[in-house]
Amino acid sequence: MHNVRKVTDDLYWIGGDDHRLHLFENIHPIPRGVSYNSYLLMDKKTVLFDTVDWAIGRQFLENLEYVLNGKKLDYMVINHMEPDHAAMIEEILLRYPDVRIISNEKAFYLMNQFGYHIHPEKCETVVEGDTKSFGKHKVVFVAAPMVHWPEAMVTFDTTNGVLFSADAFGSFGALDGRLFNDEVNFDRDWLDDARRYYTNIVGKYGPHVQFLLKKAPVDQIKFICPLHGPVWRNDFAYLLDKYNKWSKYIPEEKGVMIVYASMYGNTENAASILARKLVEKGMTNVHMYDVSKFDVSYLISDTFRYSHIVFASVTYNLGIYPKMHNYLMDMKALNLQKRTVMIMENGSWACKSGELMTKCLEDMKDMNILNEKVTLTSSVTEGTEFEMDTMVDAILDSMK
Ligand code: FEO
Repeated sequence: MHNVRKVTDDLYWIGGDDHRLHLFENIHPIPRGVSYNSYLLMDKKTVLFDTVDWAIGRQFLENLEYVLNGKKLDYMVINHMEPDHAAMIEEILLRYPDVRIISNEKAFYLMNQFGYHIHPEKCETVVEGDTKSFGKHKVVFVAAPMVHWPEAMVTFDTTNGVLFSADAFGSFGALDGRLFNDEVNFDRDWLDDARRYYTNIVGKYGPHVQFLLKKAPVDQIKFICPLHGPVWRNDFAYLLDKYNKWSKYIPEEKGVMIVYASMYGNTENAASILARKLVEKGMTNVHMYDVSKFDVSYLISDTFRYSHIVFASVTYNLGIYPKMHNYLMDMKALNLQKRTVMIMENGSWACKSGELMTKCLEDMKDMNILNEKVTLTSSVTEGTEFEMDTMVDAILDSMK
């Protein structure tokens, strides 16, 4: 049975939710599911904006057929050809043989690489700034390279102010009937997943997001229609502020993450004492993470959120504990920068983790590595506590 929502008088959301997928991109946990958004414009010409993942293909096809209500499909605009959105292209071509596909040269090239068989006569290639009229509605195509794939573009409907933003402004989380940002408590229920989506999927490409934000006709936008998560129809300043901070790698909050790797509880004990000392001195925005318990996507997300990070790790095979090392490698891969960081190391006979973690952090951009390090030889002693007091003072000083 069809399951659609109206976005405007003649624009419909015809996507769907996937509650069954455990790992987005086969790597990031999505306990709240994910939506694949597709939109259908019923103008003089009918226009589909992106398709969906195979997983919800049946629902999508029913939705499309229902809204078309016997009309033929004239155009399919592909803003982003990653298979979670473009998987249904060939199926659409089979069912609607008159449809023409509008996209850019790079996207058509990648579609071919992915084995989508599209006859060149079906393709209309557009470049930055090209416009197209579908009747009442006129759209302009805007390149969005590396947000987060090279072919990505966004389409802006100049008639009604709808921005089809591809992956930009998307989020993990199934919609469950609620389509618009003002139908959910975004700050309470969605922000963490939106941040985790942005930081892990798009986070590496902050400068490209900034470039796109500068091009966006912000004062003309009435709706933002992303390919995942809620459609925005108000409160744009809130969303843009988050995107601005994330893409400039500016922390959202003054706060301390203590990420610890502990085998027998002693490094965890030290992390906990450090947290308590911070709270006693007035810094209550402190959060502890067992690196073995938290999926790295959550660690990355909160690393974008908070200003200060303490890396506390045992030495393992004369190196950094593997899960901590993976976290540090992911930080580097995602271009994380501009954080104040501290080291807490533990080693029972040959302590190496501090030196190696420092090296990893030195390889990242604009990391303020505080000199006040804590070194444990197996467990916390009075000497370690003194080092922790010094570290706490250094953290609080750096927050002034
Ligand atoms: Fe949701 Fe980049 O695909």
